Amino acid sequence: MAIAIYPGSFDPITNGHIDIVRRAKKLFSKLYISIVANPNKNSLFTAEERVAITKAALAEAGINGLEVVSYEGLLIDCAKEHGADAIVRGLRANSDFEYEFQMALTNRDLAPEFESVFFMTAKKLSFLSSSIVKEVCKYGGDVSTFVPKSVETALREKLHTQQ
Ligand code: PNS
Repeated sequence: MAIAIYPGSFDPITNGHIDIVRRAKKLFSKLYISIVANPNKNSLFTAEERVAITKAALAEAGINGLEVVSYEGLLIDCAKEHGADAIVRGLRANSDFEYEFQMALTNRDLAPEFESVFFMTAKKLSFLSSSIVKEVCKYGGDVSTFVPKSVETALREKLHTQQ
C-alpha cells in the first residue's frame, strides 16, 4: 500500500479534517499530517502549537498510527522527504474545486510522481472550515460539534489571551 501526506494549515484541525484522516488511513499504509509552517501565512496558532493541537485531537478521537509533521516551503518537498506516493486533500463544496484543481496541477507539473487524491467531505461537515470555527469561537458561539474538546479548549485559551 502507498504512503500519503495530508497537507494543510490545520489552524486548527476540525472534525472535517478528522473525518478525512479516518477514511484516508484505511487506504494508505502510512499517513502523515503535514502542517504548513510558512511564516507568511496569517495563522492563529504557531506551527508548533498546531502540531501539538493536532496530536491531541487525534488522540482524543482515538486515531493512532500516523505522524504529524510540519513543513516550510513547497509541499512536494515535504512529500519527497517522507517518501510519499500521494497527496490527500478534502473537497467540500464546488467552491473548493478551483483552488484544489490549480494546486493539484501545479504540484503535478513540479513533481509528476505524486498523485493527488481527493476525499469528498461527509455531508454533515461540508460547511465546516477552520476559519468559520475561529470566527464562531471568537464571538462566543458553541463550537463543540465542530472540533474535539481539546481543540475547543486551545481555541478559547488563545482567543482569550488575544483580547
Ligand atoms: O489548509 P490549506 O490552507 O487549504 O492548505 C494549503 C496548503 C498548505 C496545502 C498549500 O498552500 C501548500 O502546500 N503550501 C505550501 C507551498 C506550496 O507548495 N505551494 C505550491 C502548491 S500550489
